[in-house]
Amino acid sequence: MKTELLYSGKAKQMYATEDPTVLWVEYMDQATALNGKKKVQIEGKGALNRQISSLLFEELNANGFATHYLKTLDANTMLVRRVEMVKLEAVVRNFASGSFARKFQTANLLPLRPAVHEFYYKSDALDDPFINSEQAIALGLADAATIAEMHRQSDAVNAYLTARFDGIGIDLVDFKLEFGTLPDGTLILADELSPDNFRLVDQATGQSLDKDVFRKDLGPLQPVYQTVLDRLKGAQHV
Ligand code: TMP
Repeated sequence: MKTELLYSGKAKQMYATEDPTVLWVEYMDQATALNGKKKVQIEGKGALNRQISSLLFEELNANGFATHYLKTLDANTMLVRRVEMVKLEAVVRNFASGSFARKFQTANLLPLRPAVHEFYYKSDALDDPFINSEQAIALGLADAATIAEMHRQSDAVNAYLTARFDGIGIDLVDFKLEFGTLPDGTLILADELSPDNFRLVDQATGQSLDKDVFRKDLGPLQPVYQTVLDRLKGAQHV
């Protein structure tokens, strides 16, 4: 059972459990954008993100990736391994979009080869600024070996997920990962794997299948996330 509330974020709440190595994660029906300035309740969103995350974490675990995912408890809840989070968001971009397209004034969806890796410093006070590797090391957020390992694992996850989404007619445009370390120092993939943190574009229609629908007010979010889940389940890989 869950015990103390440890963290209440924009889309998830994390609780301790009776096992000190295990955390309880509840996916909430909340959507936020603009770093929390735009906030709406969307019924069913938590359960959809939990299902998509569980499905992808189960596949990654089965394919030899080290992740924090342990098991699913109910519609909105999963159990994960407790890790010390690295205070960096690892963004990988296969095509220009979002902040990258704005910053460099590129065409939307310009292919980026090799994939672009970026870090953002997880700091609400600073609004999660871009940070390069040397800055992150100098500020003691991660050592060089951890940065290199995050890069390696992000590339491997990108290769897996790009092929996985391509198989269901979806381009993986970009995504954000977070990592954490186990008590023995091993770096593993943590956080969530959902359309809140991925940009996905339908190859047939060019339609956004991710949180851009909410960010840009393109219509209701729930049916779009349901489409992603249905397609993933239709071509299940485990
Ligand atoms: P960006 O284009 O806004 O920088 O976002 C790149 C990708 O990272 C996109 O898939 C959304 C994801 N992302 C998050 O999940 N959380 C964040 O705080 C940010 C800035 C981006």
